[in-house]
Amino acid sequence: MVNLKINGREVSVDADPDTPLLWAIRDEIGLTGTKFGCGIGMCGACTVHVGGQATRSCITLLGDVEGADVTTIEGLDANDNHPVQEAWRNLRVPQCGYCQSGQIMQAAALLTDIPDPSDEDIDAVMTGNLCRCMTYPRIRQAVRDAALANRGQTRNG
Ligand code: FES
Ligand code: FES
Repeated sequence: MVNLKINGREVSVDADPDTPLLWAIRDEIGLTGTKFGCGIGMCGACTVHVGGQATRSCITLLGDVEGADVTTIEGLDANDNHPVQEAWRNLRVPQCGYCQSGQIMQAAALLTDIPDPSDEDIDAVMTGNLCRCMTYPRIRQAVRDAALANRGQTRNG
């Protein structure tokens, strides 16, 4: 049994501590917004926050998050209105959508670490999150817009 807090809720997962966190999130806890892409830490589709840090859940073991605070896309904001989610909606960033929960979780962590990121900062952090639909220009703009929104501004001032 591994105990952790997920989206603010204490859960006990009856699984081997060597189980990838991604499997526990999807198959044991039943939160399917976090996606499986590559399984080897190379695509970012499985990104969640562990202790506020963007983390690839496919290569993180369940036993390594014992007692930790894990946030998935379902828990990023109670009303799905995190500034990153609002910017994503406003710009209609997703295409097929498969990579997008990972993109949003990575972007939210980026803005926590760097509230006013340059384009170079955005590219450096987001480069590990792959999108087969090539939504990269909209992702970059949405991160910029979310950063402005965090400061109570918009692109139009
Ligand atoms: S599924 Fe985890 S990084 Fe690709
Ligand atoms: S929106 Fe299709 S993979 Fe990114």
